[in-house]
Parts: sequence; C-alpha cells; structure tokens
Amino acid sequence: MFCFFLASADFWFVSFYSNFHWAYLFSNFFTSNDPYESNLKKLLSVLYYKTPPQGFALASLGKYQYQTHGLALCRGDVNATECMTCVNEASNEIHKRCPYNEGAIIWYDNCLLKYMNKDFFGQIDNENKFYMLNVRNVSINPKVFNQKARDLLSRLSKEASGTPKLYAVGEGEMGDQSKKLYGLAQCTRDLSSTNCFKCLEGAIDELPRCCDGKEGGRVVGGSCNIRYEIYPFVNKLIISY
Ligand SMILES: *[C@@H]1O[C@H](CO)[C@@H](O)[C@H](O)[C@H]1NC(C)=O
Ligand SMILES: *[C@@H]1O[C@H](CO)[C@@H](O)[C@H](O)[C@H]1NC(C)=O
Repeated sequence: MFCFFLASADFWFVSFYSNFHWAYLFSNFFTSNDPYESNLKKLLSVLYYKTPPQGFALASLGKYQYQTHGLALCRGDVNATECMTCVNEASNEIHKRCPYNEGAIIWYDNCLLKYMNKDFFGQIDNENKFYMLNVRNVSINPKVFNQKARDLLSRLSKEASGTPKLYAVGEGEMGDQSKKLYGLAQCTRDLSSTNCFKCLEGAIDELPRCCDGKEGGRVVGGSCNIRYEIYPFVNKLIISY
C-alpha cells in the first residue's frame, strides 16, 4: 500500500499486477471539527449508497469554502456487490490515510474515489496519473505489437465515449497468428463524450512512455484509464445499465 503526498505527478511504476492501490493527496489541509470534515463524511456516505446501483455517482455537499465535491466509479464489469465493497474500502482507506486533506484520490482495481474542495466535474484530470505494466517483453516484434495495442485501444476509446457508461472492452488480433489482445477503456461519467474521448486519446499517447513492447499496460488517471493484456481480464458477464 502506498500513500503519496503529491499535488501532481507523473509517476512511473513498474510492477506485476496485484490488488494494490494508490492514493494521491492534495496538499491543502483542514483541521479537526472544521465544517469541511462533516461535509466530507457525508459525501463519502452518499457515494457509498449512490455508486453501486449504476457503478458511478457524484455529489457536492456543503457551502462556500466548506463545500466538497466527489465521485466514485467502479470498473464497468464489476457488479453492485463488488462495487459497494470497493467503494466502502476506498472510503475507509482514504479517510484513514488522508484524514485532513481537502482532496484525495484513491485507486483500486475495481474502483476509484476522488474528492476535492473545488468543483472538478466535467474537466479532464491531467494531473493525477500513473502507469502500470507487466515487465515481460512481448514475444513478437514489439513495433507490430505496439501498433496492434494502440489500434485496439483507439477503437475502444471511440466506442466507450459513444456509450452512456463511457466504458468499453474488447479484443483484437495480436498480429501473430491466432493470439489475441484484450483491452479496456473507461472514463468517469462526469465527462462529456468529447472529453472522454480526449482523455482516452491522451492516455493512449502515453503508452510508448510506459509500456513499449510489454505484455500488459495501464495508464490510469483521475478521469479515465486504459488497459491492455494478452489474456482476458474482465468478468465475462457485462452488466448493462
Ligand atoms: C458479483 O461478482 C463476484 C465476483 O465476480 C461474484 O463472486 C458474485 O457472486 C457476484 N454477485 C452477484 C450478486 O452477482
Ligand atoms: C525486455 O527488453 C528490454 C530491451 O530489449 C531489456 O532491456 C529487458 O531486460 C527485457 N526485460 C525482460 C523482463 O525480459
């Protein structure tokens, strides 16, 4: 588990995948018994109840400088039970790790939770971002592979930004006989379709910086994320809302 006191960062991380998560903390603090604290507590409980049925929720609570804005998003294939578990965990963890931060983001495999003391809805978050990759090199020509991964994710970005859930998964050819590539693209649903597409395209442009010729890669941000693997990684049953 990690906790970073970074207001903004391009952070590079190399790892095999596991269930760990990240938290970025924004640097402004409030004090105990500040009205912000009770607004934040309410916000977290609203997100806990509102998120699971649709896999996404946003809310703003409080007034003036004590207002807090937050959202939670579950991965598109995660069911309501798992979504609730994840948002609950995220909300407990963020509260424990970042008790007096006015803003924070925490990411898990199954969900993300973010709040700030300013209205960030609809805007692409270009500040909070990290990469994950499978350190194994692909066994085929990496140039061919990279282009295939890009093609798949570009197709999924178009598809995702055209759906109300701003989520798409799919598969493509790896460029080596019958082998397949699997991909995912998802945005937080406060974004417009146009901004979702922009965010995803931006994430795809990061791929050469993180995941060149690697068997798996993810670019994970505060507003969107993409992922590709050489094995299927989402639940088969896709819940449609
Ligand atoms: C939700 O998904 C989990 C993990 O895939 C599964 O174990 C559980 O049975 C599912 N619950 C429902 C209600 O579908
Ligand atoms: C992957 O390829 C790069 C460049 O050819 C090499 O430096 C690196 O050691 C390889 N990594 C693994 C895990 O094989």
